[in-house]
Amino acid sequence: MTETAEQVEETAVEQEEIDLTAANQVIDKYQDMHGSLMPVLQAIQEAYGYIPEETVDLVSERLNVYTSQIYGVLTFYAQFHLEPRGKYIVRVCMGTACHVKGATRIGETLENRLGIGHAETTSDLKFTAEYVACIGACGMAPVIMVNDATYGSMTVQKMDEVIEKYQAMD
Ligand code: FES
Repeated sequence: MTETAEQVEETAVEQEEIDLTAANQVIDKYQDMHGSLMPVLQAIQEAYGYIPEETVDLVSERLNVYTSQIYGVLTFYAQFHLEPRGKYIVRVCMGTACHVKGATRIGETLENRLGIGHAETTSDLKFTAEYVACIGACGMAPVIMVNDATYGSMTVQKMDEVIEKYQAMD
């Protein structure tokens, strides 16, 4: 039998520090829908910015799905993240055109300034670095993206300026 949101939340709060209110609300919304696992996981990531381990246990309990099955989905789809990510996702294109035009130096600059490499996040959760394949802007190589903003013709100096800009933002 499926437990109520209150029962599961009470149990979880005793054991975990993370606030499961948002996750319970997501499950409440999709619980009766056929094939609810994907939309539930997507909405939880939207709410928390990643999939906290505690929410996996909650989803397992409330949707009666094995945690192994949930982790199978989470690790199969690249869209899901199991660790907290930065507010600003800095993607450095390492595709061929960008590589030829010095993408490696751009990546090194990012690592030197922020102390993070590929798939790493600063301890203040402000920046996450990702080295990615061609992002379709080869004419502007070397290219980076910060969240949805694209920056082309990158140089070490320009990379410094972009980092400073986002460091100064909340
Ligand atoms: S190789 Fe970098 S945008 Fe295409």
